[in-house]
Amino acid sequence: TSGAAPLGDLAGRRVVVSAGGTRERLDPVRFLGNRSSGRQGYALARAAAARGAEVTLVAANVTLPDPAGVKVVAVESTAELRDAVLSASVDADAVVMAAAPADFRPLSTSETKIKKADDGSAPSIVLQQNPDILKEISTHRSRPDAVIVGFAAETGDHTGSVLDLARAKLARKGCDLLVVNDVSGGAVFGSTDNEALILGADGSSTEVPHGSKSALAHRIWDLVAVRLAGRS
Ligand code: CTP
Ligand code: CA
Repeated sequence: TSGAAPLGDLAGRRVVVSAGGTRERLDPVRFLGNRSSGRQGYALARAAAARGAEVTLVAANVTLPDPAGVKVVAVESTAELRDAVLSASVDADAVVMAAAPADFRPLSTSETKIKKADDGSAPSIVLQQNPDILKEISTHRSRPDAVIVGFAAETGDHTGSVLDLARAKLARKGCDLLVVNDVSGGAVFGSTDNEALILGADGSSTEVPHGSKSALAHRIWDLVAVRLAGRS
C-alpha cells in the first residue's frame, strides 16, 4: 500500500506532472526515443488526485490507461512536452518533471523515408541539444512560490559519487526537490518498484526505502505539501 496519505491535503492546489519518454522524429517512420514507461509519473498523478489536487498530466508516449479525474495532455517530442508543461505551469502550485525528455533531437527531420544505399554505407545522424524544461521552469518561475520537483537516475562515475552528482544536478537545475534513483546496480526502467533519495534545495535529504511507485509518489507529495503549507 501507499502508507498513510493525508487525503485532501492538496485540495485547491493545481499541480502539473510530466511522464513518459519523448520521441524525436528522424523520418515519417523512425524516431530516437528512450525506455521510460511513465509509471512513476502516472503514480504521481493518481496520488495527487487522491489528495485533492487538480492535476494536469503531460504524457509523452505512455501506453498506460488515463488516471481517473486527471487532465491528460498527450505529447510526442521534447519541444511539445516543453510547450505543454510551460502552458500548464503558468498558475500551478507544483510541477513534477517525472518525464524522460530526449536530450537531443536530429538537426533535420526527413519528410520522406530515409532509404538505404546499395553500397553498404550508412547515413550519419547529426544531433542538437533540446531545451532543458526543468531548468527553464525553475529559473524563470511564473509563480515564485511554486514547488518544482525534478528526477534524476544516476550512476557514480569518475567525476563523483551518485550523491555528489545529484547535489550538483539539483543546484544546476534550480529546482526545489530532486528525486534521485541510484541505477548503478541495474536498470529501473519498466520496473514496478522504486527506491529513492529526495534531496532538497534547503539541504534536506529524505531516504525512501524500496517500495511501490505509489508509495514514492506519496512521499514526494508529502514534501511538496509541507513546502506549500510554509509558503501560503
Ligand atoms: N529534464 C528536462 N528537460 C530536458 C532534460 C531533462 O526537464 N531536456 C528534466 C527531467 O524530466 C528530470 C531532470 O530534468 O526531471 C533531470 O533529468 P536528467 O536527464 O537526469 O538531467 P540532464 O540535465 O539531462 O543531465 P544528464 O546529462 O545526466 O542526462
Ligand atoms: Ca538527460
